[in-house]
Amino acid sequence: MTDAPAPYGSTPLATGPSGKRVRIPQLRQWKREGHKWAMLTSYDQLTATIFEDAGIPVLLVGDSASNNIFGNDTTLPVTVDELLPLVRAVSRATWRPIVIADLPFGSYQESPEQCFRTAARFMKEAGAHAVKIEGGLEVVPQVEKLAANGIPVMAHIGFTPQAEHQLGGYRIQGRGPDADRLMAEAKALERAGAFGILIEMIPGELATAITASVDIPTVGIGAGVGCDAQVLVWQDMAGLRSGNLPRFVKQYADMRTTLHGAATDFAAEVSASEFPGPAHTF
Ligand code: KIV
Repeated sequence: MTDAPAPYGSTPLATGPSGKRVRIPQLRQWKREGHKWAMLTSYDQLTATIFEDAGIPVLLVGDSASNNIFGNDTTLPVTVDELLPLVRAVSRATWRPIVIADLPFGSYQESPEQCFRTAARFMKEAGAHAVKIEGGLEVVPQVEKLAANGIPVMAHIGFTPQAEHQLGGYRIQGRGPDADRLMAEAKALERAGAFGILIEMIPGELATAITASVDIPTVGIGAGVGCDAQVLVWQDMAGLRSGNLPRFVKQYADMRTTLHGAATDFAAEVSASEFPGPAHTF
């Protein structure tokens, strides 16, 4: 009898000493078995433990913290020193999911050596199990360097938010002749040693074709249902954000309304001297 855990992500699993940490080779195995899984961003202890308990096998401490935590308009300004404590919080708080640290803009593009130094900081100082970098053929040497030196790396192609000024904003990639470029990039990144490829905002048909052409898992966001896994930014998934959301976002809760209601009720009870009541007073 094996002691393999139940398929992760299909059933909520309570944390406990009998379970096992999800490891990188498991993700390839799931692809072979056709087992689809979900990835969420997380930037703090509490969401990390909630998502772990919900059976999410991979948590991404995304550079989207720039927008979602630090209040910037884009992902570009966030720094390594700002992201390190967030990765540390998520990896300290959990023990089952793979924790991926997103390398921020400017911290890896210069050279494979720069990329290795930054990735090593996230592994040593923050307990990341893997890193993610954006880019296609131009980051193949970076992927090779990390993979050859024991750092699992997820590639990120299609729409790459760190290049949004060059791409002219949030635009779907891979239409028409550009499809061949993306297919070639995915294959080159797999050959270079990436353990997975995040594919953002490309036509569903192309993402399905890429997924069928590589042996490593693809993680889609705005790339249709044909990918091996799906990722969403947790504040989008849980309805914490309001306003215009990309078409690919589905909100599974309305946390903004819930939190707004709680804060409003708290303020009203304080104004009316109803809180704290006898039950909350020593
Ligand atoms: O940083 C991020 O949140 C991302 C998303 C595409 C998931 O990379």
